[in-house]
Amino acid sequence: MNIAIIGYGKMGKTIEKIALQRGHHIVMKIDNENKADLTTDNLKKEKVDLAIEFTNPESAYENINKCFEAGVKVVCGSTAWLADWDNAIASLDKNKGTMIYASNFSVGVNIFFAVNKRLAELMDSQWDYEVSMKEIHHTEKLDAPSGTAITLAEGISDKMKRKSGWTKNREATDKVHIKSVRVDSAPGTHKIKYSSSIDEIDIIHKAKSRDGFAQGAIMAAEFLHDKNGLFTMADVLGIG
Ligand SMILES: NC(=O)c1ccc[n+]([C@@H]2O[C@H](COP(=O)([O-])OP(=O)(O)OC[C@H]3O[C@@H](n4cnc5c(N)ncnc54)[C@H](O)[C@@H]3O)[C@@H](O)[C@H]2O)c1
Repeated sequence: MNIAIIGYGKMGKTIEKIALQRGHHIVMKIDNENKADLTTDNLKKEKVDLAIEFTNPESAYENINKCFEAGVKVVCGSTAWLADWDNAIASLDKNKGTMIYASNFSVGVNIFFAVNKRLAELMDSQWDYEVSMKEIHHTEKLDAPSGTAITLAEGISDKMKRKSGWTKNREATDKVHIKSVRVDSAPGTHKIKYSSSIDEIDIIHKAKSRDGFAQGAIMAAEFLHDKNGLFTMADVLGIG
């Protein structure tokens, strides 16, 4: 595929490495200093099939929108931009666009999402257990809690009647409490704990490197090759 990388930072560079290994062509690289080059004309001139967008919360929606307007499919991994989600979907519908957004593209995490939901379902009627979550990331991470932690918390509150949404406030017991920790160069870690006075059940996912996110983003791109519309990583993995 002819791929545009939008956001040539830590993720963009890892995505480039894996895309090239898998035989794709990187025909455009857009970063902060050349962001004015992201135009319909340039996307068409370079025959871009699909853009992989990993920038920041402020830029994601605008970038996605430009791609839809140019008829370019999108894999979006930027986090914390979901206040613009409804606008993005309106643009997708209007332009007959195609996108996969995931707060975390790693295959392991998406399996973990499914395990998390199933465990929450089983614990729904077990009132002796309190659920909580801890996420640990590197100190450069801009958002807290992580997009992955929010997806996990939403998975729990969807399945447990006694929880509605998430909170950073430990006192609000009607919501899933998320504790965020930032430590230098820590790999992304998400731990969910169900604790009673008798015992504890923990499930934990630890990323070892960025390669898992990048590999999942390329898998998502390859999945979209012959598709139109809005999809998720669960569709890519066949666990939807
Ligand atoms: N979904 C996932 O699996 C996943 C995994 C890791 C990181 N992320 C998210 O991806 C995003 C990027 O992470 P990163 O670690 O690569 O960050 P980074 O800071 O290393 O890279 C971001 C890059 O985007 C560039 N940028 C800023 N504004 C831009 C614009 N308007 N157009 C184009 N480029 C622009 C910056 O110059 C920078 O090089 C963050 O939102 C992060 O939370 C998601």
